[in-house]
Amino acid sequence: MEVEIWGLEFVCDLVHEIWELVRTIVVAPLRSASVVCSYRETCMKAVVFERFGNPEEVLQVRDVPAPPEPGPGEVRVRMLASPVNPSDLMYVRGVYGKQPALPATPGFEGVGVVEATGSGLLAWRVRGKRVAVLNRATGNWREQVVVPARQAIPVPADLPDEQAAAFFVNPASALVMTRYVLRVPAGAWLLQTAAGSALGRMVIRLGKHYGFRTLNVVRRREQAEELMRLGGTTVVCTADELLVDRVRTLTGQGVPCAIDAVGGATGSDVVQCLAPGGRLLLYGTLSFEPIQFDPRVLMVGQRKIEGFWLTPWAAQQNVLTMLGLFRRLGKLFRAGVVTSEFGATYPLEQVQDAVRHAAQPGRQGKVLLRIQPR
Ligand SMILES: NC(=O)c1ccc[n+]([C@@H]2O[C@H](COP(=O)([O-])OP(=O)(O)OC[C@H]3O[C@@H](n4cnc5c(N)ncnc54)[C@H](OP(=O)(O)O)[C@@H]3O)[C@@H](O)[C@H]2O)c1
Repeated sequence: MEVEIWGLEFVCDLVHEIWELVRTIVVAPLRSASVVCSYRETCMKAVVFERFGNPEEVLQVRDVPAPPEPGPGEVRVRMLASPVNPSDLMYVRGVYGKQPALPATPGFEGVGVVEATGSGLLAWRVRGKRVAVLNRATGNWREQVVVPARQAIPVPADLPDEQAAAFFVNPASALVMTRYVLRVPAGAWLLQTAAGSALGRMVIRLGKHYGFRTLNVVRRREQAEELMRLGGTTVVCTADELLVDRVRTLTGQGVPCAIDAVGGATGSDVVQCLAPGGRLLLYGTLSFEPIQFDPRVLMVGQRKIEGFWLTPWAAQQNVLTMLGLFRRLGKLFRAGVVTSEFGATYPLEQVQDAVRHAAQPGRQGKVLLRIQPR
């Protein structure tokens, strides 16, 4: 049944995308003269850091040269807003995967309006549109960016700016881990740590939407009631419960699927919660501590531990898979499944306040940087 539905969705996505491309080829060139804007500015505001360290201390707002005109296959975007994600803070601290050349600008995702395009179908397709911008090269915490057109994803017109700003990183990771990589079957348990995070809440709602059960691990008891209200099947709090014992009591043999963003003692316990044949995806390092486990747990029970990182996963997919993913995310946004809660908004000039707020334990909702008005 599941296979049939996925097959049908894929065909619908394919037909829709072909239609969009045909429409773009015929209509876009006719519109082009009126939409390409004349860009005269030479300077813009950007958040910059010259050394790695505490984001509150090393980030500055500066005037920097405006980006050049977009080349073939590129678009220039006037940035509107960008969320402050844990990955942005790690990037500024110099502990996030590949380190940038300094000075650098943070901001892996965000929303903006395409103001100018270079040549090429993918660029024309987004001309004049509001787009979610994925930018690992130059960072989005700046007034203008030039990015490859495939990194500018048109967002539904009725999606508010703050949701569009957080359109991809967390929603795509939650969906891809649960539906594309682990393919958690309906009725099965998925254990997740940091369940109160924005991504964790999406996983809970995905569980409700697709019918899998979520076993949600948090470090603060106050979060339990709220996560149950969201649709979590159960909540375990590591502050006052023993995770491995609770999981055994709830599930018998353990869970078939788990995702961990914490590492350290919590991640180590999660390994012991896996049922024989179970799979664990490691996708974050919030505790900055390594995981320890007895290799026999993997050997004897044929359990698997894998890393998940959205960037290389997305780079390995073909265009149709990615277009289908964007369309599926659009539908899930409309259904309220992969939306983020925002607790505070700061203008670009107050970036230090924004990152201080974002780093607070127990913060309510995500922090948004408002770069420019729409
Ligand atoms: N691999 C990938 O491709 C990928 C993609 C997207 C996101 N991520 C990762 O997903 C995680 C969640 O991101 P997000 O934007 O959803 O986060 P978020 O909304 O900013 O929330 C962070 C959450 O982590 C919890 N937390 C922080 N440190 C912790 C610790 N030492 N032990 C237990 N819980 C801790 C916080 O709990 P309190 O409420 O108690 O403070 C909070 O609920 C991050 O690690 C991020 O890097 C990975």
